[in-house]
Amino acid sequence: MTSNSFKIGVLVSGRGTNLQAIIDAIENGELNADIAVVLSNKKNAPALKRAQKKGIETSYMDPKQFASKKEYDLALARELKNRRVDLVCLAGYMRILNPEFIGMFPDKIINIHPSLLPAFPGLDVQQKAIDYGVKFSGCTVHFVNEEVDGGPIILQAVVPVLPSDDVGTLSERILIQEHLIYPRAIQMIAERRLYIENRKVSYKESVSS
Ligand code: GRF
Repeated sequence: MTSNSFKIGVLVSGRGTNLQAIIDAIENGELNADIAVVLSNKKNAPALKRAQKKGIETSYMDPKQFASKKEYDLALARELKNRRVDLVCLAGYMRILNPEFIGMFPDKIINIHPSLLPAFPGLDVQQKAIDYGVKFSGCTVHFVNEEVDGGPIILQAVVPVLPSDDVGTLSERILIQEHLIYPRAIQMIAERRLYIENRKVSYKESVSS
């Protein structure tokens, strides 16, 4: 992997296809960043293997080894601060972050969510979109604040919800878009092209355009 000055830390819990999309975007030059560390709260998260395969540092941090959720999150924060990460990317990280953790990385934590926020925050949202009968859904990259899935929106992508969809087919269609917009959002942040005003994210022109 090439050496970039913009460092990200990635938090994962599961299969890690978004992490993979970030790794791939770095490898093919679409994203000028380095992954300083991948941290997981799940020992057997396939995401860890994806990172290890590329020689990226990983760490499994067992929540049971900590007295409280807060202690756990402070330990996570230490790992990230020690590596001087510029951005924390949640990529299928299934724990809600403690407010103190969030306060330690102001406007420096982002998440990818498989719905068009503010519709369907929380869990099982592809099923909720189908059950509600929406005709379009999609995904959202947003800054993380103390409101779950409620932070300022950076990028969104829209997909149709088809009458034949089940949770599997809709999730797959959304996931393809997740893998496109997540690395793109990180690149915009790395280029310092985003600013937040009254919770609205605006884009500055690309330096190269
Ligand atoms: C994705 O659908 C993402 O939007 C949500 O969790 C899932 C993680 O998938 N936050 P993966 O681990 O990146 O494959």
